[in-house]
Amino acid sequence: MTILVTGGAGYIGSHTCVELLNGGYDVVVLDNLSNASEKCLDAVKEITGKSLKFYKADMLDYEATEKVFKENKIDSVIHFAGLKAVGESTQKPLYYYHNNITGTLHILDLMKKYGVKNIIFSSSATVYGTPKTVPITEDFPLSTTNPYGSTKLFIEQILTDVQKANPDMSVVLLRYFNPIGAHKSGLMGEDPKGIPNNLLPYIAQVAVGKLEKVHVFGNDYPTKDGTGVRDYIHVVDLAVGHVKALEKRTDVPGVHIYNLGTGNGYSVLDIINAFSAACGKNLPYQLDPRRPGDIAECYANAQKAKNELGWTAERTLAEMCEDSWRWQSTHPNGFED
Ligand code: NAD
Ligand code: UFG
Repeated sequence: MTILVTGGAGYIGSHTCVELLNGGYDVVVLDNLSNASEKCLDAVKEITGKSLKFYKADMLDYEATEKVFKENKIDSVIHFAGLKAVGESTQKPLYYYHNNITGTLHILDLMKKYGVKNIIFSSSATVYGTPKTVPITEDFPLSTTNPYGSTKLFIEQILTDVQKANPDMSVVLLRYFNPIGAHKSGLMGEDPKGIPNNLLPYIAQVAVGKLEKVHVFGNDYPTKDGTGVRDYIHVVDLAVGHVKALEKRTDVPGVHIYNLGTGNGYSVLDIINAFSAACGKNLPYQLDPRRPGDIAECYANAQKAKNELGWTAERTLAEMCEDSWRWQSTHPNGFED
């Protein structure tokens, strides 16, 4: 079975390529490398001892994307490609809408043209907006607070409409919580460009000495220690979730929606402590005001994925931090090292 992985050179996509190859799937990657390095795909090959087909192409370029469908008999698409920086999306909304939505329309159009009936889409817990309660189940009301989140919500709606018009299609919407960690080999992990926006890569760069201290955004939230609470999930657990979705939902018509999280909420201070333990030094931090747009608490009820996909996140917070530290300490400059 051949899987087209859009955005397969990126953080979550590359870890998913490893699990797909290990699971015996053939993999074709489409990525324009706007936020990734081709070296990441070398790591995928080294880890698995298997090869994959890579097209350096932009999904906004219809002809270049069509070439991938023309030259390969694709059975399913896993669609990771997209821009994901929340802050940047508020500055450049049209860039985000165009890249994420137009790109997806191209993929869907080509799926129709080439008879591909299965798609798994990278959605996000951001589609729950500010949840009234936690843990969050898939039937919670949906809303967004920034253009990035809106692209996720709109694409969920587009996929739902397309499935309705093509009832033999299988659409899987995977709503990720906060992916962190890296592959155990230490050969690949998150490699953000510039100063990281997200907590874990920021902490990792403090630990390696590239940044001075962690800035904790807000200590007056109604949480156990006043700092924001999130559901951090190991990127390999997340990758395995995609393989389970393929196994259980390929050629099962319908729109299938799952939260992929651990069900545990950890505060910013919990994460700083866990990472300090993993790297063996007390990481300096400073309490700062809240970051605009952030919510107090967000964690999943992941029971539906357990019941229907037979999937649960297995890796602990300590493992997430140890794996992240192994990658960061051996590759302080990411794939440049
Ligand atoms: P990433 O930036 O590492 O991966 C995305 C990949 O898509 C990159 O390799 C980039 O080069 C590629 N890409 C972007 N636009 C493209 C285009 N027009 N044509 C071809 N390739 C293009 O991000 P990630 O963390 O691996 O996220 C993967 C997906 O999961 C994204 O859709 C993201 O929105 C979603 N997601 C991520 C998180 C998170 O916290 N990392 C949480 C929820 C959802
Ligand atoms: N935080 C800090 N300091 C930092 C960065 C973050 O204190 O330097 C705090 C935030 O306030 C929040 C927590 O750490 O409480 C996590 O923040 P991240 O930026 O790592 O992650 P978010 O939960 O804000 O958002 C992430 C992705 C979104 C995605 C969401 C849910 O960036 O794209 O998870 O999946 F939608």
